[in-house]
Amino acid sequence: MNQIPPPYYNDDKNSFAYPTVHKRWPTIIEGGIDDMKSAINGDSKLENSGNEIIRQLQSLLVAFKNDEEVKPFSEEAIKLNPSLIRYNESLKELNKVRKVTWLTGPWLNLECYLYQAINQIFISSEDSYWHKFDIFEKLKNQTFQQSEVGVLELCKRYEVLTTQLSDSLSQDTLKILFSEFIDISLWGNATDLSLLAGNVSLEDIQSLQGEKNRKKNEENILVNDLSQAWDHLLKKGSKEKRLDIILDNSGFELFADLIFSLFALDSGLANKIYLHSKQIPWFVSDVMPKDFDNLLQQLIDPQFYNSLKSNENHLSAASTVKEKISKYHESGQIIVKSHMFWTLDDKFWNIPKYGDLYDDLLNSDLIILKGDLNYRKLTGDVQWEPTTSFVTSIQDLAKSKLPVLSLRTCKADVVVGLPEGLNEKLIAKYKSMGNEKGEFWSSSGKWAVISFSDGYN
Ligand code: F6P
Ligand code: MG
Repeated sequence: MNQIPPPYYNDDKNSFAYPTVHKRWPTIIEGGIDDMKSAINGDSKLENSGNEIIRQLQSLLVAFKNDEEVKPFSEEAIKLNPSLIRYNESLKELNKVRKVTWLTGPWLNLECYLYQAINQIFISSEDSYWHKFDIFEKLKNQTFQQSEVGVLELCKRYEVLTTQLSDSLSQDTLKILFSEFIDISLWGNATDLSLLAGNVSLEDIQSLQGEKNRKKNEENILVNDLSQAWDHLLKKGSKEKRLDIILDNSGFELFADLIFSLFALDSGLANKIYLHSKQIPWFVSDVMPKDFDNLLQQLIDPQFYNSLKSNENHLSAASTVKEKISKYHESGQIIVKSHMFWTLDDKFWNIPKYGDLYDDLLNSDLIILKGDLNYRKLTGDVQWEPTTSFVTSIQDLAKSKLPVLSLRTCKADVVVGLPEGLNEKLIAKYKSMGNEKGEFWSSSGKWAVISFSDGYN
């Protein structure tokens, strides 16, 4: 086994961790505070408890600013959320390497810790109103609403698909469709709200949502193991297949994942799809079970998508998609789950140590992991050479018998599986595009990777 490199640290100016903790985290929390203010909105019953939450969010901001030591979660916090024991354990280990402070500690662990700390503020409020409150919901809804054009384009694409699918479809055609709908799901990941706190504009994101743009971006997929994943599925023969999607963001990305799910179920590629969501508000935009329900409502709501009022074709396409998803959901072919593992700071190398989750996932024929954070957790978010193989980078997971397919637009430092010399070319290219740090190409969301391991390495 190769030696494991060190993680990315928050004080490394060459890492995307640095602008994240200095600029993006404060922006995200300040935005949350503004949204809290509008949630309280003069409601005298919520004022005291709401202001207490704001005060605690502000003290988190001060903790970053003063680079305070990151404290273990208290006994009371653990009582409310037992998964925090794991955080305290990992903090203890990390402190052995060097004292963990907000501005110098390991990026991945602290970013996870941050979202747990925010959640803790809400679930420990004296007013139970806040216990299930999602501080990021307003932002999630806004961005989904702004994705109207992309969403309706996908609804129309789905209507056409229903006329393309038939029993006599050749395997080659099915493979082409599989690749197209995977592409839709992949680029759906470019819509990530926590990036909005950085330097990516909404126009940038919308520009990745349409078919034309997906085609244009094909050459930006730097690693593409999709054929291996396809062959793996074919090897499973004609038995009924289960796919799992470890979801990332709600809104447009979730919608794209659902469109992929419809394709997989309608075409007979799978007969069950498990969607794994988060139990708490996570990295701003990640899917919680209630976001799935919200999306289904919003999709056919003319107050939400204006063009549904005036355009009957849009309304009919959106209704078809909504009804299809609901039908599969009701019949138990689309199942929404969540497990506390997905909101730990643990690497996915350790999935086999979480017995119930591992046993469940062993039943899957393909586990699709969406997005950047899942990729960081797959590869451990350590400083691998970009030419390291994906299989090496996921360590024990590579021999866990779990077939994993990662669909990731690159929004952080770690990247593996690149051919010799490509990283250097991309650094030069990103610099020539007017960016100060060429190395940040891999955090820009403009490139993507599709990586596969069958679990038997
Ligand atoms: O831009 C960096 C970042 O905020 C990372 O912290 C995180 O890995 C990622 O974005 C979230 O992206 P995604 O929603 O694709 O996991
Ligand atoms: Mg996310």
